[in-house]
Amino acid sequence: FVVKGTAFTSINQKEVEVLENSLFCITEAGTIAKIIRPDEENYMETIQEYSAKKKLEELPADQYILPGFVDLHIHAPQWAQAGTALDLPLYDWLNTYTFPLEAKFSDKEFANEVYSDLVSQLLKNGTTTALYFATVHRESSVRLAEICSEKGQRGLVGKVVMDDPEQTPDYYRDEKAETAIADTEEFIKEVLALNTKTPQGVYPVVTPRFIPSCTDEALAGLGALAAKYDVHIQSHCSESDWAHGFVFERFGKNDAFALNDFGLLGEKAIMAHAGFLSDADMGLFAEKGTAVAHCPISNAYFGNAVTPVAKLLNEYQVEVGLGSDISGGFSPSLFDNIKQAVISSRMLEDGVDKDCCSEKRGVTGSRLTLNEAFYLATAGGGESLSLPIGKLAVGFAWDVQFVTTKELPIFTKSEPLLDIFQKIVYLSHPESIQKVWVQGRKVYDKESEKRKEEN
Ligand code: GUN
Ligand code: FE
Repeated sequence: FVVKGTAFTSINQKEVEVLENSLFCITEAGTIAKIIRPDEENYMETIQEYSAKKKLEELPADQYILPGFVDLHIHAPQWAQAGTALDLPLYDWLNTYTFPLEAKFSDKEFANEVYSDLVSQLLKNGTTTALYFATVHRESSVRLAEICSEKGQRGLVGKVVMDDPEQTPDYYRDEKAETAIADTEEFIKEVLALNTKTPQGVYPVVTPRFIPSCTDEALAGLGALAAKYDVHIQSHCSESDWAHGFVFERFGKNDAFALNDFGLLGEKAIMAHAGFLSDADMGLFAEKGTAVAHCPISNAYFGNAVTPVAKLLNEYQVEVGLGSDISGGFSPSLFDNIKQAVISSRMLEDGVDKDCCSEKRGVTGSRLTLNEAFYLATAGGGESLSLPIGKLAVGFAWDVQFVTTKELPIFTKSEPLLDIFQKIVYLSHPESIQKVWVQGRKVYDKESEKRKEEN
């Protein structure tokens, strides 16, 4: 089929390209075969051909196409407490709120209810791919992958491993390292089998929660499993002073080097937060091809710090994407996280008026532009996962959201399209999203949802 409309896409970290009134030709497999611009000779011909076949979808004048968002770090079970429980620092938050909540996911019905609602909500928010932490429970973690498969979201799912009896509560942990590894292997096999039946892909992810919750034996076993099956790896890395300090005390080195010792860094590894990486840690990430999931809302609460994203991107060429970190971050919307990424980076930047202040504040060159933050939420996420997603380009998946500008302050017909783009990113809200597609399949349609509700 063919879609006709105006789209915005990152072409690199700094630039957004406008594809005005273009034709997006989508294959059976749900990938972009061709993009035809109005000045190309087969433009009119293609419109006629596909509209005769009733396979042309034309966007209304108020709607624009954006790539679907990639949420590079989200805790699915914590959806049940999103927007609450943000009054404690990380260690106390885990033990007071989060471990008791996650323990409830031994109940498969409860897991099904929360996970079904979350995946639907994320699709409605334009999140077409998500990299999930589930819980320690294998069966309900597989259920999350099934729900992604059924609802049409590209889901990368990890059964969480936490086996250290000194750092995890009796009511919520893997029985021991051996069972954690065996369960993870079984989980990998089940999700790989599901993947073959899922057009958009669902993927198993090796998921040590973070170093403090795992024994050396579990960490080593998980590194070996990731290598054996060539699957993605995720964890939390240098998130807070406490977490970072704990690892240094245990190993005499930072998280990055300790993870690497266990085979847990690499091209398919994505580490959340990374607010306290040293220069050597950043160099190691770059060398290994390991990506960072930047979680700017959550970092304000638990990291009490701003991850130096501009430095990671520009100085070290580390791949970076954006994560909501539900529920350490309260919002499932990557629009909200894009804005926070920009805002937080401005707080890390030095004072602009350098002559006026005697005291040096901030770090020069820390700012992220809106384009860069948008890149993180889309193409950066795709690159971090080594998947052809997050961009509107030939060979990429047709993972998109149609967004209306009806309620935006646009008063002149000749408003530059890149200004409209900025207004969309700063001022849209979830209700602005009209349709969402993953791998060429429509997974959300606001109109038909409304009709369903009315009946
Ligand atoms: N570190 C270990 N577990 C967690 C978690 O659930 N959320 C966050 N933000 N950090 C963690
Ligand atoms: Fe997290």
